[in-house]
Amino acid sequence: MHMRTKKWARPELDACPFYTNGGEEYRNAWRQRFAAPEKPLHLEMGCGKGVSTAAMVADNPDINYAVCDMSPDVLGSARRNIIAACGENPGNIMILRTDICFIGRVFGPEDGAERIYIHFCNPWTEHPKHAKRRLTHPRQLMQYREILKPGGEIWFKTDDDTLFQDSLVYLDLCGFEIRYLTHDLHAAGFTPNYISEHERKFTDLGVPIKFGIFRMKAKAPAFDPTRYRLTPGVRAEALKRLDRDVNEEGTGK
Ligand SMILES: C[S@@+](CC[C@H](N)C(=O)[O-])C[C@H]1O[C@@H](n2cnc3c(N)ncnc32)[C@H](O)[C@@H]1O
Repeated sequence: MHMRTKKWARPELDACPFYTNGGEEYRNAWRQRFAAPEKPLHLEMGCGKGVSTAAMVADNPDINYAVCDMSPDVLGSARRNIIAACGENPGNIMILRTDICFIGRVFGPEDGAERIYIHFCNPWTEHPKHAKRRLTHPRQLMQYREILKPGGEIWFKTDDDTLFQDSLVYLDLCGFEIRYLTHDLHAAGFTPNYISEHERKFTDLGVPIKFGIFRMKAKAPAFDPTRYRLTPGVRAEALKRLDRDVNEEGTGK
């Protein structure tokens, strides 16, 4: 979505004690940046204006959050939303401006995140060549594997059917197993669910929200994600395999 430049966003972010631009210098040392480093660490990829982030952070003071986006304009709004919900100096959040395509340079195995949220990432469905830009593409998932603790989870929501179906295949190929799956999150009544800006928009349009929780299996798959392309054949085959694993919505194996 195009967003008009906000002149106030960069100066406010630069003055914000819980904002970082880039972040490579903190690789493997993110936990120490929080008031209570021993708390679980959850990451959000593409937090946008942080509408759901702010509510989630305020509700969960016992979790540390590092939330990432590449756009300073949306992060300026995220900062304001977080301060409105959590006060001027919340000790359990870091806002990070970074390109998630290279997230493995910013977080490392010592950071050991328990969970990664990906909410309404850009679907990149117009051209197959663009699929590698998806935040759920194997190029990304194999980096998340390095950042997550053993048994760590990815929580993924989208309005987009093609992105969701393709992502189920990506997740399967990259060694993530389904813990929860629904093609209509709001009808399923899963809680807790913090509604993001895009989720509100698509829900108001009557589009069901697809959602899954995926747990990282210990064994890493043996394939090169940078060479991986999702062909229709691969997709049909993998979806057939997934159908055998998931008997009905809401029940993972
Ligand atoms: C469609 S918006 C969704 C925002 C929010 N999660 C929501 O549900 O309302 C996708 C966000 O991901 C960010 N984004 C996309 N690709 C990115 C990348 N490679 N690195 C960092 N941020 C990215 C965009 O700047 C945008 O804010």
